[in-house]
Amino acid sequence: MAATLLTAETHEKKTNRDLVEQAMRHSWFPVARSADLVAGGKPEAAVLLGVQLVVYRDGNGNAAVASRRCPHRGADLSIGEVHESSIGCPYHGWQFSSGDGLCVRVPSIEDQGKIPPKARLKTFPVEERYGLVWTALEDPIEPLYQLPEWEAEEFVWLQADPLDSPVGVAVTVENFRDVAHFPFVHKVSMGPTPEVVEPLKVTRDGSHVWMTRELNAGTGEWADDGDATMKYHCVAPGLSSITYDYEQFGRRVVAGFPCPISFEHVKIFWGVANAVDYSGATLEHNLHIEEVVYLEDIPIVENLQPREVPWDAEVEEFSAPADIFTLNYRRAFLDLARRTEEKFYGSNAAE
Ligand code: FES
Ligand SMILES: [Fe+2]
Repeated sequence: MAATLLTAETHEKKTNRDLVEQAMRHSWFPVARSADLVAGGKPEAAVLLGVQLVVYRDGNGNAAVASRRCPHRGADLSIGEVHESSIGCPYHGWQFSSGDGLCVRVPSIEDQGKIPPKARLKTFPVEERYGLVWTALEDPIEPLYQLPEWEAEEFVWLQADPLDSPVGVAVTVENFRDVAHFPFVHKVSMGPTPEVVEPLKVTRDGSHVWMTRELNAGTGEWADDGDATMKYHCVAPGLSSITYDYEQFGRRVVAGFPCPISFEHVKIFWGVANAVDYSGATLEHNLHIEEVVYLEDIPIVENLQPREVPWDAEVEEFSAPADIFTLNYRRAFLDLARRTEEKFYGSNAAE
């Protein structure tokens, strides 16, 4: 009987959603908080775009991200034991280097020179920044986010308990920087705010989108802080931030870094930072205030339909001028997606 031929000839044009998912596999996302990983301590389980990972800090203090599945017989390494420069499997004790994943010990073999030479655990690149441990499933299309407004001075970060939200990365980023919802969703935390949104001045360069707004102190939780300039800065796929410049205190930051567990489900890592010479409220206080805001958003966002941006216009949406940041963020994401396709898959997807 002739086998059905499933060959390269069957390849179809990739949809925008395909390109977006592909770009996310080539992007950095956080998978743990740095402070949660103790050198030589317990590993953590993480999931990035459906890929099961183990995250840990080896005894030498180096953070490591690897496949959670032991390549011997499939045990879960997140319940394994961390050694000086390796992770040990809880089933038969095989150990894999925290650097390149090479198997360095098989307890059942008397002569360790006879370890199967190809035995290796799949490892992923690691960076630590902003109090988080970051990784990427495939070669990253861009270096890990490094915002110039955060490079100009020294910041101290405090990362919140991550939030679980059953929607995608883009929906999460769009909510974070959307301003037209304040008078409806944030009545309690922000007090009355104007419904009319002034013409927004949004600029985009590649995967970066910026917008500056003036913050009038208002009557909510922030009333005593005085006026500030807010610099919104999002980077596709998954960084959304506001850097506040207070006339009386200096510079502080709130930022969200949603990690896609799947295309339609994120774990939201987020945190606050104060410049070292910031003279306003403490990090703990700012974290608490921002958390109240976030928790007001969650019941709205977790019920949005569809659960991720309809990248191929499969759902009808209408937009108003206040959505211009959102529309630019979507362009930034598609720009990243097309560049990923061109760089790693060789096709000219720009059209
Ligand atoms: S399953 Fe991991 S050592 Fe056997
Ligand atoms: Fe909000």
